[in-house]
Amino acid sequence: MAGLAVNVDHVATLRQARNARYPDPVAAAVLAELAGADGIVVHLREDRRHIQDRDVRLLRQTVATKLILEMAATKEMVAIAADIRPDLVTLVPEKRQELTTEGGLDVMAHKTDLKKTIQALHDHHIPVSLFIDPDTDQIHATKEVGGDLIEIHTGLFCDAPDSAEQDRAFADVIEAARTARQLNLGVNAGHGLCYRTIKKFKGLHEIDEFSIGHSIVARAALVGMEKAVAEMARLIREL
Ligand code: PXP
Repeated sequence: MAGLAVNVDHVATLRQARNARYPDPVAAAVLAELAGADGIVVHLREDRRHIQDRDVRLLRQTVATKLILEMAATKEMVAIAADIRPDLVTLVPEKRQELTTEGGLDVMAHKTDLKKTIQALHDHHIPVSLFIDPDTDQIHATKEVGGDLIEIHTGLFCDAPDSAEQDRAFADVIEAARTARQLNLGVNAGHGLCYRTIKKFKGLHEIDEFSIGHSIVARAALVGMEKAVAEMARLIREL
């Protein structure tokens, strides 16, 4: 059965909108775990637009499931990960102007640097996932540079303008999941998933964990964190 890792970045977005103390992503993480989350995800961005260093430090002390740190492959972030010791690092591309992560890593174009970053994280016994588009060449490159898992970027599938496009994008996700499995890579998936799109994964058993943030936090603003997480966890259990 696939797991659910809940991304609490946008709880911090709401807090930072007023530079306030609340809502606290640490409190949201506690509620998410009580409601059945299998892990908590935060993206510590270079510009600190939502999650702050303090959040990651506190989450390391409070998260009872597993803490997944999304980060860019920079020296600053590797040093922070080495200090915090998350259970998993997911390397993502990062651009200052983007609203959210816009695409997967180009592993093929950055093999040497990624290999070094992954080795540095492995030296601290931190497993590493690479967030990539559902592309066979990128998956082979992930294996080559020493990644332990891929996280398949589901954005193209979720944002498809019509059902034909969506089906095409989903076929790519299926192929990517199967290719990664054959290479003995772990398989996570995420970005843009919501209470509707998650149902499409029924019967696809190659995915270990879904990483979902915005749709859950958006629903939580209306119905509460526990209810929002429990509903997504139920949908994933039924896949
Ligand atoms: N996975 C990765 C690598 C991401 O960057 C994000 C967004 O922070 C997510 C999953 C979650 O995406 P969403 O907030 O759209 O559910």
